Amino acid sequence: MLVRLLYASRSAGPVTHEIIESILEQSRRHNPERGITGMLCYGGDVFMQVLEGGRDAVNRLYGDIVRDERHRDVVLLHYCEVPERRFANWTMGQVNLAKTNPSMLLKYSEKPVLDPYAVSGRASMALLEELIATAQLIGRAG
Ligand SMILES: Cc1cc2nc3c(=O)[nH]c(=O)nc-3n(C[C@H](O)[C@H](O)[C@H](O)COP(=O)(O)O)c2cc1C
Repeated sequence: MLVRLLYASRSAGPVTHEIIESILEQSRRHNPERGITGMLCYGGDVFMQVLEGGRDAVNRLYGDIVRDERHRDVVLLHYCEVPERRFANWTMGQVNLAKTNPSMLLKYSEKPVLDPYAVSGRASMALLEELIATAQLIGRAG
């Protein structure tokens, strides 16, 4: 059984290239063997990540991620059983929102900044779907 989980968090410190690379390195190391796919979005000091895969695998990874000291204020935005994956091609895709068109953010929120704390989980999911549709996502092969 497949589930999709979406959460948001705030980085404990500045979001540097090194932090993103170390998270992606861990994702590439663990996600394929665990059957996890998804994407990691970041903008300002905010992370937003969608994880999909088997229920046990996703729940266990989310438990590890919540305890990770590189971020705080982890909020579950959306969780559901799904018939199929949306991010099947990505071990962990990444989107740097500083490099995307601000109108994409404005479409779903009051200001052109990533603020999943201020909008509904549905709006955040819609933003992610639009990012995939417009290919603003950088795939990272497993
Ligand atoms: C925002 C964020 C996203 C993360 N995403 C993943 C992920 O998709 N897969 C993963 O294995 N670890 C991810 N991690 C890292 C885990 O929290 C944890 O540090 C890691 O799985 C431990 O693996 P290791 O001890 O083998 O290095 C993420 C951490 C953060 C802060």
